[in-house]
Amino acid sequence: MEQPDAGAVQSTRLWGGRFEGSPSVEMDRLNRSLPVDHRLWREDIEGSLAWATALGRAEVLTEDEASTLREGLEQVAERLRSFDSARWHAAADEDIHTLVERLLREQVGAVAGRLHTGRSRNDQVATDTRLWALRALDRIDSLVRDLQAALLSQAEPNVATVMPSYTHLQRAQPIAAAHWLLSHAWALSRDRERIAGTRERVGTLPLGSGAIAGCPFPIDREFLRDELGFLAVTQNSIDAVGDRDWVAEILFVASTLGVHLSRLAEDVILFASAEFGFVRLADTYSTGSSLMPQKRNPDAMELARGKAGRFIGGLVGTLALLKGLPTGYNKDLQEDKVALFDAVDELETLLPAVAGSISTMTFDVDRCAAAVDPAMLATDLADFLVREGIPFREAHERIGRLVRAAEELGCSLSELPRDRFIEISKEFADANLDGLFDPLQSLEARSAPGGTAGVSVRAQMEALKHLL
Ligand code: ARG
Repeated sequence: MEQPDAGAVQSTRLWGGRFEGSPSVEMDRLNRSLPVDHRLWREDIEGSLAWATALGRAEVLTEDEASTLREGLEQVAERLRSFDSARWHAAADEDIHTLVERLLREQVGAVAGRLHTGRSRNDQVATDTRLWALRALDRIDSLVRDLQAALLSQAEPNVATVMPSYTHLQRAQPIAAAHWLLSHAWALSRDRERIAGTRERVGTLPLGSGAIAGCPFPIDREFLRDELGFLAVTQNSIDAVGDRDWVAEILFVASTLGVHLSRLAEDVILFASAEFGFVRLADTYSTGSSLMPQKRNPDAMELARGKAGRFIGGLVGTLALLKGLPTGYNKDLQEDKVALFDAVDELETLLPAVAGSISTMTFDVDRCAAAVDPAMLATDLADFLVREGIPFREAHERIGRLVRAAEELGCSLSELPRDRFIEISKEFADANLDGLFDPLQSLEARSAPGGTAGVSVRAQMEALKHLL
């Protein structure tokens, strides 16, 4: 059979009968979603293959017709596999469903017109997009896991690397660099939990809902569910065609993940600056300035921070899209895919670059240690007094006075003469002050689960490895 180029032929509409003439050029340009939804071609074919089989099983089609349709759809898939962007661009069809049906007609002739029996583009597009989204979620999940692995690989050699932690971006208490790295890995593990939960809701099959009221033929929807790898079937056809909660949910997952990447990025940007100097990004993940030869910019991290705004925009836009819609399918819903595809594409570009930046960055162990000033051990001094039986509130007060004394003398807390310590609290008389000012001891003291002590950090790493 002759196989004309898809772009070279006139498009066919799926709804021409009751209209005189074709839509205006302006209307067509607005209405056409093929430039966006052509990416659903594989899912559209898969859904149609399953639908053809289901129609055959329901004896709506003869076995011959069903198998002709299936063979035709396989041939259409073969043709679409070779489509490049120019061919997609040249195709004049309204959307991917229209294009597939037109090509099917070219392959098998008039019997193609039987495929859409009992089906609507409303349940079809929801099915295609959910199928696409299920696969996208799996890809994102594995990229997030790669980033967790990168954080773990940096954490392993840095369990005893001491650095400051910050609250209010003011030096707080000494921590292990590994503890900081793992804090980001745990946020990502919540993202993966959200992906898994979202996956369950995305995996609900709308096919068999028709345009809105359901399918009038005895279609086995459980068969369709099984065939297409869904977890459940929708229970209400009206809800099934108008529901895009799952798109919003994916965009929320992307936004939360984006926020986590952004916060990790912000830390790395700060820590890689000359002022902090705790880490150095590899040359392969840094960029230069066109003007200032000395510059070494953390562009990957800045883009991570920037993309988060884009994901949030997609989420907010989608919620706004949904909020005023009357029940059932409305064409507004065609817009859902723009934000969905964008978020997935961006995450697929971003996540490997963030993972690469993290796994190739190096710590300046000396700079990290030098930034831990003795005042950061003030809490440890108070804790010492608590162990000597003094109520914490009182201990806090006494150490506060020591800090003030050091400030007045213009020395660091550890440089205060021992007498001043004893003057403020006699319990310091037999204290090992050097030990109290040792950041590593401070770390090791925090050995309750979840703390920064070596044992706790190693337990975290084990737990995390288990999740990977
Ligand atoms: N291109 C449409 C979309 O993405 C397909 C569904 C069209 N349905 C309709 N009743 N016109 O939403």
